Amino acid sequence: MEHTAFRFHNRAKEQEVIRRFLRSSRSEMVILYDRRGVGKSLLLERVLAEEGVPYIFYRATRRALPLQLESLSEAVREAYPAAFLPQPFGSVAVFLDFLSHLAAQREISGHQEPVIAVIDELPYLADVDAGLLTVLQHWWDANKRRPNLKLFLAGSYLSFMERQVLDANAPLYNRRTGAFKLEAMDYAEAAAFFPRYSLSDKMIAYAVLGGMPS
Ligand SMILES: Nc1ncnc2c1ncn2[C@@H]1O[C@H](COP(=O)(O)OP(=O)(O)O)[C@@H](O)[C@H]1O
Ligand SMILES: [Mg+2]
Repeated sequence: MEHTAFRFHNRAKEQEVIRRFLRSSRSEMVILYDRRGVGKSLLLERVLAEEGVPYIFYRATRRALPLQLESLSEAVREAYPAAFLPQPFGSVAVFLDFLSHLAAQREISGHQEPVIAVIDELPYLADVDAGLLTVLQHWWDANKRRPNLKLFLAGSYLSFMERQVLDANAPLYNRRTGAFKLEAMDYAEAAAFFPRYSLSDKMIAYAVLGGMPS
């Protein structure tokens, strides 16, 4: 048992699933959820860092909306130092418009690089921004035909993710192009004793099939 604590779990299949979304030829809105500590943030960071293209990574926190918008703007400046952002975004809608504007510009100029954004710990942002999920829904409906837009929404607050994001009555229902629950690593380790393909194929099947609009 003592060696498992220091082993880095490769999560090769999960990395591959994320890479497929990043490299796909359609717009993606991917939901990644499970309780805190299973490795969602690290998985996303690792795959994104290896892609070698800029990405926006905003980790929401338990703070008031203006402070979160400031950090979100800072995350955008880090990803795109050349972007002209003299002031923080006035709302999440303005941030989303920034993403779609950038994606549209790239389409026009034939620039293939995707516009990638992660909102990690989405429930914290939704807590202080009551209209957030509806704003996301409207933005997605208007922009889902931009194949170079890749949005990842991650969250550890399971009941929120299940009821407010994935549920049939939620604004984002049927919008997501992928959703998966990242299993805890001890589960993955235990699964290594089962026939080879059970865990990984289940993962991919769920991400691909479970995520398809029905
Ligand atoms: N693949 C991995 N192998 C080993 N340790 C990991 C792995 N992924 C995450 N961890 C560790 O587990 C902890 C939780 O990871 P994190 O990505 O923050 O989880 P989450 O975002 O799901 O809450 C961190 O300390 C991180 O270093
Ligand atoms: Mg996290």
